[in-house]
Amino acid sequence: MQDESAEDFPYRTEFKKKSIRSYVIRAGRMTEGQRRAFDNYWGEYGLSLFDGSMDRQKVFGRQAPLALEIGFGMGDSLLAMAEAEPDKDFIGIEVHPPGVGRLINGAAKAGVKNLRVYMADAVDVLNDCIGNGCLDRFQLYFPDPWHKKKHHKRRIVQSEFVHLLCSKLKTGGLMHMATDWENYAEYMQEVLQKEKLLENTATDGQYVARPEWRPETKFERRGQKLGHGVWDLVYRRLPGEVQPQVLTPPENDTA
Ligand SMILES: C[S@@+](CC[C@H](N)C(=O)[O-])C[C@H]1O[C@@H](n2cnc3c(N)ncnc32)[C@H](O)[C@@H]1O
Repeated sequence: MQDESAEDFPYRTEFKKKSIRSYVIRAGRMTEGQRRAFDNYWGEYGLSLFDGSMDRQKVFGRQAPLALEIGFGMGDSLLAMAEAEPDKDFIGIEVHPPGVGRLINGAAKAGVKNLRVYMADAVDVLNDCIGNGCLDRFQLYFPDPWHKKKHHKRRIVQSEFVHLLCSKLKTGGLMHMATDWENYAEYMQEVLQKEKLLENTATDGQYVARPEWRPETKFERRGQKLGHGVWDLVYRRLPGEVQPQVLTPPENDTA
């Protein structure tokens, strides 16, 4: 095991200064394999926040339907999706280096070509790298629920965040979220419902069964062992203008 904060490990999670974050970057430990994956495969799979707007033609060599996932964790479910849908391109964004190492290792071993990864704060990537109206599907699976009420402001799902995502989705594109925390599911529902540029695809106006494109995730399985339920939400992007905005945290907040 290696400490990824070690000086001889030059790969760093990228982010811009902000007062509220939806994550904590832990000085985690990496396996030797995960660490080696950065040396061997980051050049092939890694993208940098600081390169700005992503050129899909340059990155993927084609203009295929594009799916973007925030917070893929250890990456097994995202890798399975990229393998299952070779006609789509996938972008994963994660701040946790061991998960990034595991994903690019798996992708290289499987010869996957339709996947690229940012090791960065997803909100910064959305703001600076992802063009408007270019996503066919957005995926957010089992985001940190930040259970305590005083921490709810750290939940990644907020009205501003959802509005920013609407600017990145093409008309008819899908916004897919899942959680194993009922209170967070209700909160997601409330935020998504308020967004005028989205419509719920659930026939009962609530939740959908797990769509065939989403494999079970690691966190989902962990939750199931603890007896948690699972709530999937799939909303469709409606036609309409998005007010241009850059997502910034509220002022005077130092959480
Ligand atoms: C609870 S885990 C779920 C992981 C995975 N989706 C699963 O279901 O197994 C949430 C993940 O989101 C990542 N995350 C949280 N906020 C993020 C952000 N702003 N940008 C990128 N990743 C983020 C965390 O590092 C963590 O790995």
